[in-house]
Parts: sequence; C-alpha cells; structure tokens
Amino acid sequence: MVRVYRNSTELMNLHGAPIYMADMLNACLRGRLNLFLQGDTGSGKTQLAADAMSYFPEGKSLFILGRNDMDTRELFQQINLEKLKTAKSSSEIKELTDKIDANLIVVDELPNCLPAVRAQVFNLFDGYIEISGRKYNIGKDYSVGIATGNIGQKFTESSNELGRALKDRMHVIIDTDYFKPTSADTLEILSGNTNPRVEFTQEEANSVNIIKSYKQLESELKKQIHFEKMLVVNYLIHGLDICHVGGVLTSKTKLKESWPNKVDSNQQGSDEALVLPVSIRAAKSIMRLSTALDEIAKSKGGKIDADFGDFDSMMQAYKFVSAYSGVLNDALVQEKYNGDKYSAMDALIEATKGEFERQKENLARMVEMVKKGKKIKGISDEFQGRWSFVEGTLEGLVKQS
Ligand SMILES: Nc1ncnc2c1ncn2[C@@H]1O[C@H](COP(=O)(O)OP(=O)(O)OP(=O)(O)O)[C@@H](O)[C@H]1O
Ligand SMILES: [Mg+2]
Repeated sequence: MVRVYRNSTELMNLHGAPIYMADMLNACLRGRLNLFLQGDTGSGKTQLAADAMSYFPEGKSLFILGRNDMDTRELFQQINLEKLKTAKSSSEIKELTDKIDANLIVVDELPNCLPAVRAQVFNLFDGYIEISGRKYNIGKDYSVGIATGNIGQKFTESSNELGRALKDRMHVIIDTDYFKPTSADTLEILSGNTNPRVEFTQEEANSVNIIKSYKQLESELKKQIHFEKMLVVNYLIHGLDICHVGGVLTSKTKLKESWPNKVDSNQQGSDEALVLPVSIRAAKSIMRLSTALDEIAKSKGGKIDADFGDFDSMMQAYKFVSAYSGVLNDALVQEKYNGDKYSAMDALIEATKGEFERQKENLARMVEMVKKGKKIKGISDEFQGRWSFVEGTLEGLVKQS
C-alpha cells in the first residue's frame, strides 16, 4: 500500500534536495521528536498522521481520537491498560506498563482532550505513564507521538495552559496552513479518491526502518563532535541572549517581562527585540532534527556544502523547532511580517547567516586550532558581545576532543 498524503510544496531546499511535509514527518520520527500538526480543517493533518503509522509494523502504533468526554480510564482502556484498576502494587503496575509496546502514538484532535488525559498523552509520547505520582516506563525503548489540532494559533500562546503544555512537550510544531498542497497535488488527490475519510495504510514493505535510523542518529551524535553545529547551537542559546539596554550589554532572559520593550530603540528592529534565545531543550531538538534532515537530504541526492552545509541544516531545524515555541515577539511578527512566523524566522536566518559569514574566517581559524589540539588562549577582540560565547565553546571542545 502507498501512503495517501500528497503535498509537493517545499518546506525547504536542503543541500540541494527538496524537503516536503512527508520528509519532515520522517525526520521527526528518525529524531524521535514529538510532532504537533496544526492547521485549518480538512488540510490533511489526520491523513499525514495516519500515514506515519505505515512506518511501523502492524500493532506497534496506536491511534487515539481526542474527545472531551474521554477520561483517563478510557484512555488506559485504549492502550490496553484496563487491568490497571485492579493492580495493587507498583510491581503489578510495572508488569502491565511493560506490555505496552507501541512505538508510535497518534492523538488526533488533541485539544479536545481533557487536561488530565492530555497530561497522560504527553507522558506516553515521552515513553512513560504516571500513576499516583510514579513514573512507569512503557515497554519500548522507542516511542514517539504525533498530535493534531485545528483551533488556530491562539492555543500555542504561552498564556494558556494548553499552549504551555504543547510547547513543553511537543518538540516540533508545524502550521500546515503555510505549506498547502499545490494545485497539481489537489488534482491528483481528487482524481484518485473522493472519499472524504482518512485512509489507514499498512506498513510499507520498503519502509525505512525508523528505529534503526534513530539509533544510528543517536550514536552518531554521541560519537562525533560537530564543531560547526556546536558553534551554531551555542550562538542560538547564548549569542541570541545578548541585547542592549541603555547602551549596555545585557541578557534578554534576565530582563524577563521587560523584554522586548526595554531594548534600546536603535535595536528595536533587529533580532534583539524579535526573538528570545532557544532553551537547552529546544537546542537538543534542533541538533537531532538537523541531523535527521541531513540524512534525508543525502538520501535524495543532496550534497552537504563544506562551508555552510551544517549551518544551513541547523537553521532549518531552528526554524521548525522555534517558530511556534514561544521565542518570537508576536507583536513585532504581526507588525513586520503580517503575523507570519515562518517569514520572521526566514529573516532571522538571513541575518544570522550574515553574522556567521562575517565571522567565518575567524571561526575557521579557531576550529582549526581546536582540531589540532592547540590551546586556545587570548581570544581576540573578534569575539565580543553576542560572540563572547565562542571562547567557552572552544574551551569545551578542546576538552572533549
Ligand atoms: N494532502 C493530502 N493528500 C491526500 N489526501 C488528503 C490531503 N489533504 C486532505 N486529504 C484528504 O481529505 C480528507 C480530509 O483530510 P483530513 O481528515 O486529514 O484533514 P484534517 O486536516 O485532519 O481536518 P480536520 O482539521 O477537520 O480534522 C481525507 O479524506 C484525506 O484523505
Ligand atoms: Mg483531522
């Protein structure tokens, strides 16, 4: 059987290869990153999530429809945990949770779930369930979640409970409305099958082995130090934290609620007022997503550019991890980019590329020194202000290599 979801709108071009929505889904599965699909009604979110099930053997994925009359007991029933109510000791509970062997859990229309159910769904996505304050791992070393929802952008705002929970627990949030299928796609979709229901497909015979790819990716990230990626990720965590208030360098994070209003007026149009630094959690997701995207681009014939290849995939991963993660200044995005978070991220990527191009030679010289095992000392005036993270990064890299 073939996957049903069609969409040939490019999310990006990476290393010369086009990356589509289905590739992004694949990258999230390989990176074991929980994916939230939001968007207008009827845009194929459920279909894409259902297609994801075809990457796993039959019986290793679960599909749950979020309903506001489902309580945790019913959720547990759906994941074959109905015996839980009779289990008394924690060892009995463990025996039951060990038996849950789903690799993929799809929750359609997650915003309909009650908060208590939602909390357990997020736990399941991360590979455990929580009973009386104790965590019980489910019986698999790989589990990932995909959820969908269509109540608009409001619920990803950190002001509400669902928004916060989504940002904390979903690693990648994609607004599918910005990447609609082309007219050629819709022609093909409509000429094939006009049944408006979602089709569920079986595992594809030649399917990439997601779990194997995931394990390779994990060990790859552990055994090799990616100098360029480390510099980029530290720029996103530390470099983007720097801003000017009253002509003095300070930290956006420390400004708390005063960011972005306190930022000097001559910097109001720059990234200083547009974006907060990424969290360490987001940084981890970015590393994984960029590596997964590299693999997919390579499998499509892409060639990683020696100078900016790592930078490019890190930036694309940054875009898709961060756009809906709450780091953007929504008022400025509204004012300058008509509310389009992806345009704002594109502008940020452009500006960051300029920054890295200016520092390219300085950075290359430093990386060369680290690779040769030379001691980094007297880091010159080149790495000041938002670049002051470079010194510590290099020291860390010297220690590791
Ligand atoms: N890109 C697509 N490729 C193939 N089929 C599609 C695509 N988009 C939508 N469809 C088909 O259109 C119908 C509606 O899609 P689906 O139920 O996945 O939308 P949805 O985004 O989940 O909508 P809702 O927000 O109402 O749940 C299904 O039959 C589905 O197979
Ligand atoms: Mg749906």
